[in-house]
Amino acid sequence: MGCFSFSLLIVVAIAVFTGSFRPASAQTSCPVSVGFNGTEKSFANCTDLRSQASTLSWSFKEESNSSVGILDVAFRTTLLSTGGWAGWGINLVSANDMIGTNALIAFDAANGSNVLLYKVTAAQKSSLAPLVCSPIDITVLSKSVQIVDLSITIFSTIRLPPNLTVIHQFWNRGTRVTNFQPETHPTSGAYLSSFSSIDVSSGAVSEGTVDNSDQNTHGILNVVGWGLLLPLGVLTARYLRQFTSSVWFYMHVSIQLAAFIIGVAGFSTGLKMGGDSSASKHRSLGITIFTLAVLQITALGLRPKPDHKLRRYWNVYHHGFGYIIITLVIVNIFEGFELLQPDKKYRNAYIGVICALAAVALVLELATWALWLRKRSKNSKRLESDLKAINGHRTADPKGASHDGQFSSL
Ligand code: HEM
Ligand SMILES: *[C@@H]1O[C@H](CO)[C@@H](O)[C@H](O)[C@H]1NC(C)=O
Ligand SMILES: *[C@@H]1O[C@H](CO)[C@@H](O)[C@H](O)[C@H]1NC(C)=O
Ligand SMILES: *[C@@H]1O[C@H](CO)[C@@H](O)[C@H](O)[C@H]1NC(C)=O
Ligand SMILES: *[C@@H]1O[C@H](CO)[C@@H](O)[C@H](O)[C@H]1NC(C)=O
Ligand SMILES: *[C@@H]1O[C@H](CO)[C@@H](O)[C@H](O)[C@H]1NC(C)=O
Repeated sequence: MGCFSFSLLIVVAIAVFTGSFRPASAQTSCPVSVGFNGTEKSFANCTDLRSQASTLSWSFKEESNSSVGILDVAFRTTLLSTGGWAGWGINLVSANDMIGTNALIAFDAANGSNVLLYKVTAAQKSSLAPLVCSPIDITVLSKSVQIVDLSITIFSTIRLPPNLTVIHQFWNRGTRVTNFQPETHPTSGAYLSSFSSIDVSSGAVSEGTVDNSDQNTHGILNVVGWGLLLPLGVLTARYLRQFTSSVWFYMHVSIQLAAFIIGVAGFSTGLKMGGDSSASKHRSLGITIFTLAVLQITALGLRPKPDHKLRRYWNVYHHGFGYIIITLVIVNIFEGFELLQPDKKYRNAYIGVICALAAVALVLELATWALWLRKRSKNSKRLESDLKAINGHRTADPKGASHDGQFSSL
């Protein structure tokens, strides 16, 4: 038992710290002045876009003789890889669906750096087909791109439709372009929340809501099942057995069963979500956790009787697997936060809960040790008096502390 004394705490602490000290997705700060072709191009306004560490700098003016607005923009981001693409566009029909986006997409090709026009269509979204150059529904007066290493800026001057000042902008990035046809972007959180509406005359930005009900279900089930109940079940097994005879065992079994059922529900929502290569680490960790959990449950059937000589080894296996699973779970929950990028408060809330569990574990650990030390000193006193009693031909109570002992090895 001593060898697992602080392992739970250490495991939890390591997982929390590797999770919380990972740099948050790179913060950008939007520039009003952007270097281009050796000169500085300055803009009236700029804003950090809500995902993919991208910025938009712009100037807006209405043509003096009409209600037509002219928009000068610089969209700035980082390519996912050399040979990748970055796109920015305006959607005249939807504020939160990429279908209909009039996109300017830039990438390096054999004939140099290109920024070409693409209309995103329903057929192409549903078939996941690459984009093909096509006329778009806004008038592009000029366009150019500057690519330095992975840093990319798309410049454009656009004539907006009359009286339009609130534009629905969409942006995204992908890793491959074949024959001037950009291939699909990843579909994890940051790539599905890359749209917002912006009033180019006032600078007011409204970030439309993202439909991520699937992701939310997935996150909640997995965090509750694997991330909360599972460690809670371990705490009951590890610390309640000192204070109860068999209650801890039934609590442990029912909490872990509930954890497994809820966790498997969450796991299956994850399988349905599919996911692209950016989610592959999260995915394989999830499959590993599920497999280990199934092994853990299967091994219950092979549990030797408490007094069997192999029981010690089974316990080591059962405890070891338990702690490994919990470590992987906590690491993978932070992987999930990284992918879906939910509001920071959820991540902080989970860090808070994990720290609270670790604090409870620490207190109980100390209490257990104190109890054990006291019992030992009492027992050694009792041993002395028992010896005296035996010497005085009185029989010692055969039950004594061994009753507890039997249950505590259950
Ligand atoms: C290259 C071809 C493209 C393909 C095959 C494609 C495919 C898709 C698919 C299937 C989704 C839905 C994914 C899901 O809900 O799980 C999606 C969403 C999205 N795409 Fe694209 N896309 C392409 C290009 C673009 C471009 C150029 C932009 C922006 C300039 C863009 C911006 C978005 C955004 C913001 C979403 C989330 C909102 C929505 O679901 O419509 N996509 N894309
Ligand atoms: C870059 O600047 C040079 C002269 O400084 C000019 O000839 C050239 O057209 C510019 N290129 C672009 C894409 O504006
Ligand atoms: C408004 O002025 C621009 C030049 O500034 C010109 O190209 C355009 O044709 C004019 N439009 C009208 C409706 O007069
Ligand atoms: C490169 O070739 C494509 C396809 O012919 C063309 O559309 C594009 O304008 C060219 N880009 C440059 C920078 O010459
Ligand atoms: C634009 O707004 C002005 C003033 O509100 C209005 O007179 C004009 O008809 C509008 N133009 C269009 C094309 O809707
Ligand atoms: C946009 O730029 C204008 C002109 O420089 C300025 O008055 C306005 O406050 C800016 N708006 C924002 C949101 O930065």
